[in-house]
Amino acid sequence: MIVRLQAAFRAAGCDPDRLTLDEIAGIDQLHLGGRAASRSLAALGELRPGERILDVGCGTGGASRLLAAEYGCTVVGVDITAAFVSAAERLSVATGLAEQNRFLCADAARIPLAGGAFDVIWCQHALMNMSHLPAVLAEWRRLLAPGGRVLLHEVVAGDNPEPLALPVPWARTAATSHLKRREALEVSLAAAGFGPVCVHDVTETALAWRQKHGRREAGDAPARRLPGPALIFGEEFVEMGRNLAGNLAAGRVRILEGVWRRTD
Ligand SMILES: C[S@@+](CC[C@H](N)C(=O)[O-])C[C@H]1O[C@@H](n2cnc3c(N)ncnc32)[C@H](O)[C@@H]1O
Repeated sequence: MIVRLQAAFRAAGCDPDRLTLDEIAGIDQLHLGGRAASRSLAALGELRPGERILDVGCGTGGASRLLAAEYGCTVVGVDITAAFVSAAERLSVATGLAEQNRFLCADAARIPLAGGAFDVIWCQHALMNMSHLPAVLAEWRRLLAPGGRVLLHEVVAGDNPEPLALPVPWARTAATSHLKRREALEVSLAAAGFGPVCVHDVTETALAWRQKHGRREAGDAPARRLPGPALIFGEEFVEMGRNLAGNLAAGRVRILEGVWRRTD
């Protein structure tokens, strides 16, 4: 993946070893709403400089870098996909953020880090890839310091029980999509020892964003095309994005952002 990323940035006229957060936004924000959605969650969670954050299912590390650069946090990103972890490390070096970011490859249910080491668990668009929610939440509880917060921006199942239009960015088949209903997610969080602080349904904003980006992706190529999500998700990305917009519009999936606090 790194070789492909480097070639794509060179083709766009960028030095792959010296990149800005603007230049990489197309390949490091693998969630609806891009950086605006991450800033919205950071504001909701009242992030403070110096807080220690664990970015679970960090992908190529976009939120980890944003939280370091804009909020002064130190962030460890963890992801099960080794190629994403390598790309995340390389992108943090290229953007000058390697000191504030560290990445490791692990399953979210078994993270080889000391307990109580984090003030915040941050998770965007990753739980729908995970079949073992109770084990993941138990790990969050272990890793958070007393009073720590969980900040979630997640895709959940909607009220419409029709099958999802597939592929979507997180799954090519129904067998690999582990969407939970909002109520079930909230019950699991409570059972794991997390109390809600505030939870919002942001489906309408997410749908408007996806529709706007879908029109852009299907349109003419601009003169200088920066690498975009197709480099990560493959050429099927336009179809995945269209299906995601359709699933949102039909109420098959919904988007939540929220903050929970560890109950002690
Ligand atoms: C849609 S991506 C979101 C990436 C990132 N949070 C973002 O918003 O840009 C979902 C990520 O979850 C990761 N993932 C899936 N199952 C995981 C697991 N069991 N443990 C850790 N990461 C996992 C995938 O490798 C992928 O990078």
